[in-house]
Amino acid sequence: MVFHPESGIIFIWRCIVLLISLVIALDAPLWNALDYGHEFLWNIFYIIGSTAYIFDIFVNLRTGFFVKGELVTEKKEIFQHYLRGWFAVDFLSLLGVVVISIMLINGIPLSGILHLATLLPILKIIHSVSSVRSWLAAQTMNPSTLRLIYSLFWLALTAHWIACGWLKMGMIDPKLGHGENYITALYWCVTTLTTIGYGDITPKTPPQIIFTMVVQIMGAGMYGYMIGNLASLIANLDIAKAQFQEKLEKVSTFMRNRSVPADLQRDILAYYKYLWANRRGTDEADIIEDLPISLKERVALFLNREIIAKVPLFQGASEDLIRQIVLKLKPQIYVPGDYVFRHGDIGNEMYFISKGAVEVVAADGKTVYAVLHAGDFFGEMALLFSMPRTAGARALEFSDLYMLEKKDFNQVLNNFPAFKKEIHEKAEQRKKELQNQSD
Ligand code: CMP
Repeated sequence: MVFHPESGIIFIWRCIVLLISLVIALDAPLWNALDYGHEFLWNIFYIIGSTAYIFDIFVNLRTGFFVKGELVTEKKEIFQHYLRGWFAVDFLSLLGVVVISIMLINGIPLSGILHLATLLPILKIIHSVSSVRSWLAAQTMNPSTLRLIYSLFWLALTAHWIACGWLKMGMIDPKLGHGENYITALYWCVTTLTTIGYGDITPKTPPQIIFTMVVQIMGAGMYGYMIGNLASLIANLDIAKAQFQEKLEKVSTFMRNRSVPADLQRDILAYYKYLWANRRGTDEADIIEDLPISLKERVALFLNREIIAKVPLFQGASEDLIRQIVLKLKPQIYVPGDYVFRHGDIGNEMYFISKGAVEVVAADGKTVYAVLHAGDFFGEMALLFSMPRTAGARALEFSDLYMLEKKDFNQVLNNFPAFKKEIHEKAEQRKKELQNQSD
């Protein structure tokens, strides 16, 4: 059996390994520096850790991988890929955990080469974090958020390791307990890394001075990197809002410069407000444009599902018809009082109402023939009977409409006679109503 790298079970397993390796990455270096005693429960934890690391090697040997977007599930290839990749890291970490387990069980003190061996399991966290990150990236998690979490995670872990290194360099105050010593070391690390460096804790011996210089250089680099990155990440998190605001500013400046009448300005700004509240300011058509036709169809079906569900005309329609129409519907927004068209206009499109209300009005703009709501359609008569608009259409409230152009309308009618019949019936009925009203 070979697991899919993006399956749920693999993610759960990766999270378990990440949790274990995180505890080890925190405990092993601190133990190395402070040489404190471990309670009995830690023995069990490290034994579980060793077992998990062994098991993880087998899981990795049974998990497919992607090459240029294609999934590889061939066992031999997985084996080679793993051997060339993460195997060394996993193996060294396993070795380290086993050494720690044996030391803890037998009460062997830290000495000589064991100092180095007990640091080996730290390596595992690099692999676990990278696997969980790729899994999350595949699950359409926002890349900016992911990068932010990833950077902060590594920053915190590195600070811990540097603090452990500082203690290891002999900066332990025997008067203080382990906890206080660690907090002091962490404080030194944070002030040095962030280039604040109060100078209240200073290196004494040459190795400590060298260590401090390395951390200072790292700090300068990391500080610049993090500040620059954080600024762009935070800006990216709400890129839609920033772009929308920029557009709004452009529109306002334009209206002021050209002295657009105040009421028109108000309507335009109200339109943008509505656009932001309903669509987060994105131009859907623009984004869909880049997609291949099959994806376009699926996105359009998804985005227009509301209108399809609302319009009774579509309810009995075949899936084929819906797919054809959905791709051709163009969303439009009207502010209250706006004319979609006026009586006598040449009609080149019909409309479906998704949200809001539209009144059908006579040429005088006062007589209201009907008020149409979500799910209704209008503007079909001019297309069916090739004549000017029999009435005007005016938005009563903010209205989301979907427009179907004449050529698409005709194409759909030709392909779907049942649809044609229904629309014809409705148009004839409206024609009669209009005649009755004008008589
Ligand atoms: P059209 O003539 O293209 O443009 C005006 C539209 O108003 C018309 O198509 C119909 O869709 C619609 N309409 C006309 N009369 C009525 C009515 N009595 N009730 C509802 N809608 C109507």
